[in-house]
Amino acid sequence: MNETFERWQSRRAFILAVTGAAVGLGNIWRFPYMTGENGGSAFLLLYIVFVLLLGLPMMMAEIMIGRAGRRSPMQALAFLSEEAGVTPHWRWLGLFGAITTFFILSFYSVVSGWSIEYLIGSVNGDFVAQSAPQIGASFDAFLLDPLRMTFNHTLFMLLTMSVVAVGIKSGLEKLNNVMMPLLYLILLVLGGYAVTTDGFGEAIRWLFTPDLSAINLSVVLNAMGHAFFTLAVGACALMAYGAYMPSDQSLPKAVLAVALLDIAVALLSGIAIFSVVFSHGLDPTEGPGLMFVTLPVAFSELPGGQIWLGAFFMLLLVATWTSSINLAEPMVAMLVGRGWRRGRAAALIGSLVWLVGLLSVLSFSSLKDVHWLGDMNFFALVTTVPPDIFLPIGGLLIAVFAAWQMPKEAAASALGVSPAGFAVWQVVVRYISIPLTAVVLLSSVI
Ligand code: PHE
Repeated sequence: MNETFERWQSRRAFILAVTGAAVGLGNIWRFPYMTGENGGSAFLLLYIVFVLLLGLPMMMAEIMIGRAGRRSPMQALAFLSEEAGVTPHWRWLGLFGAITTFFILSFYSVVSGWSIEYLIGSVNGDFVAQSAPQIGASFDAFLLDPLRMTFNHTLFMLLTMSVVAVGIKSGLEKLNNVMMPLLYLILLVLGGYAVTTDGFGEAIRWLFTPDLSAINLSVVLNAMGHAFFTLAVGACALMAYGAYMPSDQSLPKAVLAVALLDIAVALLSGIAIFSVVFSHGLDPTEGPGLMFVTLPVAFSELPGGQIWLGAFFMLLLVATWTSSINLAEPMVAMLVGRGWRRGRAAALIGSLVWLVGLLSVLSFSSLKDVHWLGDMNFFALVTTVPPDIFLPIGGLLIAVFAAWQMPKEAAASALGVSPAGFAVWQVVVRYISIPLTAVVLLSSVI
Protein backbone atom coordinates (compact mmCIF):
# COMPACT_ATOMS: atom_id res chain seq x y z
CA MET A 1 0.00 0.00 0.00
CA ASN A 2 1.23 3.45 -0.85
CA GLU A 3 2.12 6.22 1.49
CA THR A 4 -0.77 8.27 2.79
CA PHE A 5 -0.66 11.99 2.07
CA GLU A 6 -3.51 12.87 4.35
CA ARG A 7 -2.51 15.13 7.24
CA TRP A 8 -4.26 16.55 10.29
CA GLN A 9 -5.15 20.08 9.38
CA SER A 10 -3.04 21.66 12.10
CA ARG A 11 -0.78 20.81 15.00
CA ARG A 12 -3.64 21.50 17.33
CA ALA A 13 -5.81 19.06 15.41
CA PHE A 14 -3.26 16.31 15.95
CA ILE A 15 -3.07 16.99 19.68
CA LEU A 16 -6.86 17.07 19.88
CA ALA A 17 -7.17 13.78 18.02
CA VAL A 18 -4.68 12.06 20.31
CA THR A 19 -6.34 13.60 23.36
CA GLY A 20 -9.66 12.39 22.02
CA ALA A 21 -8.26 8.87 21.82
CA ALA A 22 -6.68 9.03 25.25
CA VAL A 23 -9.40 10.70 27.30
CA GLY A 24 -12.44 8.49 27.64
CA LEU A 25 -13.85 5.77 29.84
CA GLY A 26 -10.32 5.04 31.02
CA ASN A 27 -10.13 8.30 32.92
CA ILE A 28 -13.65 8.79 34.12
CA TRP A 29 -15.02 5.28 34.52
CA ARG A 30 -12.11 2.81 34.76
CA PHE A 31 -9.59 4.87 36.73
CA PRO A 32 -11.86 5.48 39.73
CA TYR A 33 -13.11 1.93 40.04
CA MET A 34 -9.68 0.38 39.51
CA THR A 35 -8.29 2.73 42.14
CA GLY A 36 -11.12 1.69 44.43
CA GLU A 37 -10.49 -2.00 43.89
CA ASN A 38 -6.71 -1.72 44.17
CA GLY A 39 -6.23 0.01 47.45
CA GLY A 40 -6.41 3.70 46.51
CA SER A 41 -3.17 5.63 46.86
CA ALA A 42 -0.93 2.65 46.06
CA PHE A 43 -2.61 2.22 42.71
CA LEU A 44 -2.54 5.94 41.97
CA LEU A 45 1.16 6.20 42.72
CA LEU A 46 2.07 3.23 40.53
CA TYR A 47 -0.17 4.42 37.75
CA ILE A 48 1.57 7.79 37.61
CA VAL A 49 5.01 6.17 37.71
CA PHE A 50 4.02 3.85 34.86
CA VAL A 51 2.55 6.67 32.79
CA LEU A 52 5.81 8.57 33.07
CA LEU A 53 8.31 5.71 32.68
CA LEU A 54 6.46 3.47 30.24
CA GLY A 55 3.42 5.21 28.81
CA LEU A 56 5.10 8.41 27.67
CA PRO A 57 8.19 6.97 25.97
CA MET A 58 6.21 4.14 24.42
CA MET A 59 3.53 6.52 23.18
CA MET A 60 6.30 8.41 21.41
CA ALA A 61 7.56 5.15 19.94
CA GLU A 62 4.15 4.17 18.69
CA ILE A 63 3.25 7.47 17.07
CA MET A 64 6.75 7.76 15.68
CA ILE A 65 6.39 4.44 13.85
CA GLY A 66 3.13 5.60 12.29
CA ARG A 67 4.68 8.87 11.25
CA ALA A 68 7.75 7.23 9.75
CA GLY A 69 5.67 4.57 7.96
CA ARG A 70 2.79 6.81 6.84
CA ARG A 71 0.61 3.75 6.27
CA SER A 72 -1.88 1.70 8.26
CA PRO A 73 -0.15 -0.04 11.20
CA MET A 74 0.43 -3.44 9.59
CA GLN A 75 1.70 -1.91 6.39
CA ALA A 76 3.79 0.69 8.17
CA LEU A 77 5.50 -2.07 10.15
CA ALA A 78 6.04 -4.14 6.99
CA PHE A 79 7.46 -1.15 5.15
CA LEU A 80 9.73 -0.03 7.99
CA SER A 81 11.07 -3.51 8.69
CA GLU A 82 11.95 -3.88 5.04
CA GLU A 83 13.68 -0.51 5.14
CA ALA A 84 15.57 -1.49 8.27
CA GLY A 85 16.50 -4.88 6.83
CA VAL A 86 14.93 -6.81 9.71
CA THR A 87 12.38 -9.62 9.70
CA PRO A 88 9.08 -8.80 7.95
CA HIS A 89 7.21 -10.64 10.71
CA TRP A 90 7.01 -7.37 12.63
CA ARG A 91 3.90 -6.67 10.63
CA TRP A 92 1.99 -9.22 12.75
CA LEU A 93 2.29 -6.76 15.56
CA GLY A 94 -0.25 -4.68 13.64
CA LEU A 95 -2.60 -7.65 13.60
CA PHE A 96 -2.10 -8.24 17.31
CA GLY A 97 -3.01 -4.59 17.91
CA ALA A 98 -6.15 -5.02 15.84
CA ILE A 99 -7.17 -8.06 17.90
CA THR A 100 -6.60 -6.08 21.09
CA THR A 101 -8.69 -3.14 19.91
CA PHE A 102 -11.38 -5.57 18.75
CA PHE A 103 -11.95 -6.92 22.24
CA ILE A 104 -11.54 -3.57 23.96
CA LEU A 105 -14.06 -1.95 21.65
CA SER A 106 -16.54 -4.77 22.32
CA PHE A 107 -16.89 -3.82 26.00
CA TYR A 108 -16.17 -0.14 25.43
CA SER A 109 -19.29 0.11 23.34
CA VAL A 110 -21.41 -1.63 25.97
CA VAL A 111 -20.23 0.66 28.78
CA SER A 112 -20.58 3.74 26.58
CA GLY A 113 -24.12 2.52 26.03
CA TRP A 114 -24.62 2.86 29.79
CA SER A 115 -23.81 6.57 29.35
CA ILE A 116 -26.51 6.81 26.71
CA GLU A 117 -28.96 5.23 29.15
CA TYR A 118 -27.93 7.68 31.85
CA LEU A 119 -28.09 10.62 29.46
CA ILE A 120 -31.68 9.74 28.64
CA GLY A 121 -32.41 9.06 32.30
CA SER A 122 -31.15 12.45 33.40
CA VAL A 123 -33.11 14.24 30.69
CA ASN A 124 -36.19 12.36 31.97
CA GLY A 125 -35.42 13.46 35.52
CA ASP A 126 -35.09 9.86 36.71
CA PHE A 127 -32.55 10.75 39.37
CA VAL A 128 -34.31 13.72 40.91
CA ALA A 129 -34.57 13.43 44.70
CA GLN A 130 -33.25 9.87 44.67
CA SER A 131 -31.11 8.62 47.53
CA ALA A 132 -27.79 6.90 46.96
CA PRO A 133 -29.24 3.42 47.68
CA GLN A 134 -32.13 4.05 45.27
CA ILE A 135 -29.73 5.11 42.53
CA GLY A 136 -27.63 2.03 43.19
CA ALA A 137 -30.69 -0.19 42.98
CA SER A 138 -31.81 1.27 39.69
CA PHE A 139 -28.34 0.69 38.22
CA ASP A 140 -28.52 -2.96 39.32
CA ALA A 141 -31.93 -3.28 37.72
CA PHE A 142 -30.62 -1.79 34.50
CA LEU A 143 -27.82 -4.37 34.37
CA LEU A 144 -30.44 -7.10 34.50
CA ASP A 145 -32.12 -5.77 31.38
CA PRO A 146 -30.18 -7.11 28.38
CA LEU A 147 -32.60 -5.61 25.86
CA ARG A 148 -32.11 -2.04 27.02
CA MET A 149 -28.39 -2.58 27.21
CA THR A 150 -28.29 -4.07 23.73
CA PHE A 151 -30.26 -1.14 22.37
CA ASN A 152 -27.73 1.34 23.75
CA HIS A 153 -24.78 -0.78 22.69
CA THR A 154 -26.19 -0.89 19.15
CA LEU A 155 -26.69 2.85 19.08
CA PHE A 156 -23.12 3.45 20.19
CA MET A 157 -21.66 1.06 17.62
CA LEU A 158 -23.63 2.84 14.90
CA LEU A 159 -22.36 6.21 16.09
CA THR A 160 -18.77 4.98 16.02
CA MET A 161 -18.89 3.13 12.75
CA SER A 162 -20.69 5.88 10.87
CA VAL A 163 -17.75 8.20 11.53
CA VAL A 164 -15.18 5.54 10.72
CA ALA A 165 -17.03 4.66 7.50
CA VAL A 166 -16.70 8.20 6.23
CA GLY A 167 -13.03 8.53 7.16
CA ILE A 168 -11.80 9.80 10.45
CA LYS A 169 -10.98 13.34 9.58
CA SER A 170 -14.24 14.82 8.45
CA GLY A 171 -16.13 16.21 11.36
CA LEU A 172 -14.12 14.66 14.14
CA GLU A 173 -11.67 17.51 14.44
CA LYS A 174 -14.39 20.09 14.79
CA LEU A 175 -16.35 18.05 17.27
CA ASN A 176 -13.26 17.56 19.41
CA ASN A 177 -12.49 21.22 19.30
CA VAL A 178 -15.73 22.26 20.93
CA MET A 179 -16.67 19.37 23.16
CA MET A 180 -13.48 18.43 24.98
CA PRO A 181 -12.97 21.80 26.70
CA LEU A 182 -16.60 21.68 27.84
CA LEU A 183 -16.03 18.28 29.41
CA TYR A 184 -13.06 19.62 31.36
CA LEU A 185 -15.18 22.53 32.50
CA ILE A 186 -17.86 20.26 33.91
CA LEU A 187 -15.23 18.15 35.63
CA LEU A 188 -13.87 21.32 37.22
CA VAL A 189 -17.35 22.18 38.46
CA LEU A 190 -17.61 18.67 39.89
CA GLY A 191 -14.24 19.12 41.55
CA GLY A 192 -15.47 22.39 43.05
CA TYR A 193 -18.55 20.61 44.37
CA ALA A 194 -16.39 17.81 45.79
CA VAL A 195 -14.52 20.34 47.94
CA THR A 196 -17.78 21.24 49.66
CA THR A 197 -18.69 17.67 50.62
CA ASP A 198 -17.87 16.03 53.96
CA GLY A 199 -16.06 13.25 52.15
CA PHE A 200 -13.52 15.51 50.45
CA GLY A 201 -10.85 15.33 53.16
CA GLU A 202 -11.10 11.58 53.39
CA ALA A 203 -11.00 11.22 49.60
CA ILE A 204 -7.82 13.29 49.42
CA ARG A 205 -6.22 11.34 52.25
CA TRP A 206 -7.23 8.04 50.72
CA LEU A 207 -5.93 8.98 47.28
CA PHE A 208 -2.74 10.78 48.20
CA THR A 209 -1.34 9.30 51.42
CA PRO A 210 1.02 6.68 50.03
CA ASP A 211 0.22 3.28 51.48
CA LEU A 212 2.97 1.05 50.25
CA SER A 213 1.67 -1.92 52.20
CA ALA A 214 -1.26 -2.16 49.76
CA ILE A 215 1.11 -2.86 46.86
CA ASN A 216 1.13 -6.42 45.60
CA LEU A 217 1.75 -8.02 42.24
CA SER A 218 -1.80 -7.73 41.02
CA VAL A 219 -1.96 -4.03 41.96
CA VAL A 220 1.27 -3.49 40.02
CA LEU A 221 -0.02 -5.34 36.96
CA ASN A 222 -3.36 -3.52 37.04
CA ALA A 223 -1.69 -0.13 37.39
CA MET A 224 0.64 -0.87 34.51
CA GLY A 225 -2.19 -2.06 32.27
CA HIS A 226 -4.21 0.98 33.16
CA ALA A 227 -1.38 3.33 32.22
CA PHE A 228 -1.38 1.79 28.74
CA PHE A 229 -5.15 1.76 28.50
CA THR A 230 -5.69 5.35 29.53
CA LEU A 231 -3.04 6.66 27.14
CA ALA A 232 -4.36 4.41 24.34
CA VAL A 233 -0.87 2.92 23.95
CA GLY A 234 0.01 -0.60 22.86
CA ALA A 235 -2.72 -1.41 20.35
CA CYS A 236 -1.17 0.33 17.32
CA ALA A 237 -4.23 2.60 17.39
CA LEU A 238 -2.20 5.75 17.93
CA MET A 239 0.18 4.47 15.26
CA ALA A 240 -2.70 4.86 12.81
CA TYR A 241 -3.08 8.50 13.88
CA GLY A 242 0.67 9.10 13.71
CA ALA A 243 0.51 8.39 9.99
CA TYR A 244 -1.39 11.66 9.53
CA MET A 245 0.87 13.74 11.77
CA PRO A 246 2.42 16.80 10.11
CA SER A 247 6.18 16.46 9.60
CA ASP A 248 7.14 19.68 11.32
CA GLN A 249 5.49 19.02 14.68
CA SER A 250 7.42 18.14 17.83
CA LEU A 251 6.25 14.74 18.99
CA PRO A 252 7.56 14.77 22.59
CA LYS A 253 5.85 18.07 23.33
CA ALA A 254 2.54 16.88 21.93
CA VAL A 255 2.72 13.61 23.82
CA LEU A 256 3.64 15.28 27.09
CA ALA A 257 0.70 17.67 26.78
CA VAL A 258 -1.70 14.80 26.17
CA ALA A 259 -0.37 12.69 29.05
CA LEU A 260 -0.56 15.53 31.56
CA LEU A 261 -4.09 16.34 30.53
CA ASP A 262 -5.00 12.67 30.75
CA ILE A 263 -3.69 12.41 34.30
CA ALA A 264 -5.45 15.64 35.26
CA VAL A 265 -8.80 14.38 34.00
CA ALA A 266 -8.39 11.09 35.87
CA LEU A 267 -7.43 12.87 39.11
CA LEU A 268 -10.35 15.26 38.89
CA SER A 269 -12.85 12.48 38.36
CA GLY A 270 -11.20 10.41 41.07
CA ILE A 271 -11.43 13.25 43.60
CA ALA A 272 -15.04 14.00 42.67
CA ILE A 273 -16.14 10.38 42.77
CA PHE A 274 -14.40 9.42 46.01
CA SER A 275 -15.64 12.55 47.77
CA VAL A 276 -19.16 11.33 47.04
CA VAL A 277 -18.25 7.78 48.03
CA PHE A 278 -16.97 8.88 51.43
CA SER A 279 -19.63 11.49 52.11
CA HIS A 280 -22.44 9.01 51.39
CA GLY A 281 -20.94 5.92 52.95
CA LEU A 282 -20.73 4.15 49.59
CA ASP A 283 -18.32 1.33 48.85
CA PRO A 284 -15.09 2.35 47.06
CA THR A 285 -14.67 -1.23 45.83
CA GLU A 286 -18.06 -1.18 44.12
CA GLY A 287 -16.42 -2.02 40.76
CA PRO A 288 -17.56 -1.05 37.27
CA GLY A 289 -20.79 0.53 38.51
CA LEU A 290 -18.96 3.07 40.68
CA MET A 291 -19.31 6.08 38.39
CA PHE A 292 -22.91 5.34 37.49
CA VAL A 293 -23.90 5.30 41.12
CA THR A 294 -21.83 8.16 42.51
CA LEU A 295 -22.25 10.82 39.86
CA PRO A 296 -26.05 10.94 39.80
CA VAL A 297 -25.84 11.31 43.58
CA ALA A 298 -23.33 14.16 43.29
CA PHE A 299 -25.26 16.01 40.65
CA SER A 300 -28.60 15.63 42.37
CA GLU A 301 -27.15 17.78 45.15
CA LEU A 302 -25.99 20.57 42.86
CA PRO A 303 -28.34 23.40 41.94
CA GLY A 304 -29.71 22.58 38.49
CA GLY A 305 -28.28 19.11 38.99
CA GLN A 306 -30.22 17.34 36.25
CA ILE A 307 -28.98 19.75 33.63
CA TRP A 308 -25.40 19.25 34.77
CA LEU A 309 -25.87 15.50 34.84
CA GLY A 310 -27.34 15.45 31.34
CA ALA A 311 -24.54 17.65 30.05
CA PHE A 312 -21.97 15.46 31.76
CA PHE A 313 -23.21 12.26 30.15
CA MET A 314 -23.52 14.02 26.81
CA LEU A 315 -19.89 15.11 26.96
CA LEU A 316 -18.73 11.77 28.32
CA LEU A 317 -20.40 10.23 25.32
CA VAL A 318 -18.39 12.45 23.01
CA ALA A 319 -15.21 11.57 24.89
CA THR A 320 -15.90 7.85 24.56
CA TRP A 321 -16.95 8.32 20.96
CA THR A 322 -13.60 9.85 19.99
CA SER A 323 -11.83 6.99 21.80
CA SER A 324 -13.93 4.32 20.13
CA ILE A 325 -13.26 5.82 16.72
CA ASN A 326 -9.58 5.47 17.49
CA LEU A 327 -10.11 1.88 18.58
CA ALA A 328 -11.93 1.02 15.35
CA GLU A 329 -9.73 2.93 12.93
CA PRO A 330 -6.74 0.54 12.69
CA MET A 331 -8.97 -2.50 12.06
CA VAL A 332 -10.79 -0.68 9.30
CA ALA A 333 -7.57 0.78 7.91
CA MET A 334 -6.17 -2.73 7.73
CA LEU A 335 -9.00 -3.90 5.47
CA VAL A 336 -8.93 -0.69 3.44
CA GLY A 337 -5.22 -1.32 2.89
CA ARG A 338 -6.20 -4.66 1.38
CA GLY A 339 -8.48 -3.01 -1.11
CA TRP A 340 -11.77 -2.98 0.83
CA ARG A 341 -14.12 -0.05 0.51
CA ARG A 342 -14.14 1.93 3.75
CA GLY A 343 -17.89 1.68 4.26
CA ARG A 344 -17.90 -2.09 3.85
CA ALA A 345 -14.91 -2.55 6.11
CA ALA A 346 -16.58 -0.44 8.80
CA ALA A 347 -19.83 -2.41 8.46
CA LEU A 348 -18.09 -5.76 8.79
CA ILE A 349 -15.87 -4.82 11.72
CA GLY A 350 -18.75 -3.02 13.43
CA SER A 351 -21.01 -6.06 13.15
CA LEU A 352 -18.40 -8.46 14.51
CA VAL A 353 -17.51 -6.21 17.43
CA TRP A 354 -21.21 -5.73 18.15
CA LEU A 355 -21.76 -9.49 18.27
CA VAL A 356 -18.94 -10.07 20.72
CA GLY A 357 -20.24 -7.12 22.75
CA LEU A 358 -23.43 -9.08 23.34
CA LEU A 359 -21.43 -11.47 25.49
CA SER A 360 -20.58 -8.52 27.73
CA VAL A 361 -24.22 -7.44 27.81
CA LEU A 362 -25.30 -10.90 28.92
CA SER A 363 -22.53 -11.11 31.51
CA PHE A 364 -24.79 -9.23 33.91
CA SER A 365 -27.74 -11.56 33.50
CA SER A 366 -27.86 -14.99 31.85
CA LEU A 367 -24.08 -15.40 31.47
CA LYS A 368 -23.26 -13.93 34.85
CA ASP A 369 -21.92 -17.14 36.33
CA VAL A 370 -20.38 -18.56 33.19
CA HIS A 371 -16.67 -18.41 33.94
CA TRP A 372 -14.24 -18.16 31.03
CA LEU A 373 -11.01 -17.98 32.99
CA GLY A 374 -10.65 -18.56 36.72
CA ASP A 375 -13.70 -16.95 38.26
CA MET A 376 -14.09 -14.35 35.52
CA ASN A 377 -17.21 -14.10 33.41
CA PHE A 378 -16.90 -12.66 29.92
CA PHE A 379 -17.18 -9.02 30.93
CA ALA A 380 -14.61 -9.45 33.71
CA LEU A 381 -12.29 -11.26 31.31
CA VAL A 382 -12.54 -8.77 28.49
CA THR A 383 -12.14 -5.74 30.77
CA THR A 384 -9.03 -7.31 32.32
CA VAL A 385 -6.95 -9.32 29.89
CA PRO A 386 -6.87 -7.09 26.78
CA PRO A 387 -6.13 -3.87 28.74
CA ASP A 388 -3.82 -5.31 31.38
CA ILE A 389 -1.98 -7.99 29.40
CA PHE A 390 -2.38 -7.41 25.64
CA LEU A 391 -1.68 -3.67 25.71
CA PRO A 392 1.58 -4.01 27.68
CA ILE A 393 2.72 -6.84 25.37
CA GLY A 394 1.89 -4.69 22.33
CA GLY A 395 3.62 -1.65 23.86
CA LEU A 396 6.68 -3.73 24.66
CA LEU A 397 6.99 -5.00 21.09
CA ILE A 398 6.37 -1.54 19.65
CA ALA A 399 9.16 -0.21 21.86
CA VAL A 400 11.55 -2.98 20.84
CA PHE A 401 10.90 -2.25 17.20
CA ALA A 402 11.30 1.50 17.62
CA ALA A 403 14.37 1.47 19.86
CA TRP A 404 16.23 -1.62 18.66
CA GLN A 405 15.22 -2.25 15.07
CA MET A 406 14.66 1.06 13.35
CA PRO A 407 17.71 2.84 11.97
CA LYS A 408 18.71 5.66 14.25
CA GLU A 409 18.35 8.44 11.68
CA ALA A 410 14.88 7.42 10.57
CA ALA A 411 13.73 7.11 14.17
CA ALA A 412 15.23 10.43 15.24
CA SER A 413 13.70 12.31 12.37
CA ALA A 414 10.25 10.78 12.89
CA LEU A 415 10.45 11.63 16.59
CA GLY A 416 11.33 15.17 15.65
CA VAL A 417 14.01 15.66 18.28
CA SER A 418 17.66 16.69 18.43
CA PRO A 419 20.34 13.95 18.51
CA ALA A 420 20.75 14.52 22.24
CA GLY A 421 17.01 14.26 22.80
CA PHE A 422 16.94 11.09 20.76
CA ALA A 423 19.72 9.57 22.82
CA VAL A 424 17.82 10.23 26.04
CA TRP A 425 14.62 8.70 24.64
CA GLN A 426 16.50 5.66 23.39
CA VAL A 427 18.22 5.02 26.70
CA VAL A 428 14.94 5.35 28.60
CA VAL A 429 13.09 3.01 26.26
CA ARG A 430 15.88 0.45 25.96
CA TYR A 431 16.94 0.26 29.57
CA ILE A 432 13.90 1.32 31.58
CA SER A 433 10.60 0.98 29.72
CA ILE A 434 11.23 -2.33 27.99
CA PRO A 435 12.79 -4.22 30.93
CA LEU A 436 10.27 -2.85 33.44
CA THR A 437 7.30 -3.91 31.31
CA ALA A 438 8.85 -7.31 30.71
CA VAL A 439 9.54 -7.89 34.40
CA VAL A 440 6.00 -7.00 35.47
CA LEU A 441 4.46 -9.13 32.71
CA LEU A 442 6.69 -12.12 33.39
CA SER A 443 6.27 -12.03 37.14
CA SER A 444 2.51 -11.98 36.80
CA VAL A 445 2.58 -14.94 34.45
CA ILE A 446 4.72 -16.87 36.91
N1 PHE B 1 -7.63 5.58 26.15
C1 PHE B 1 -9.00 5.22 26.01
C2 PHE B 1 -9.71 5.59 27.30
O1 PHE B 1 -9.09 5.95 28.26
C3 PHE B 1 -9.19 3.77 25.64
C4 PHE B 1 -8.35 3.30 24.50
C5 PHE B 1 -7.47 2.23 24.68
C6 PHE B 1 -8.43 3.90 23.25
C7 PHE B 1 -6.66 1.78 23.65
C8 PHE B 1 -7.62 3.46 22.20
C9 PHE B 1 -6.73 2.39 22.39
O2 PHE B 1 -10.89 5.52 27.40
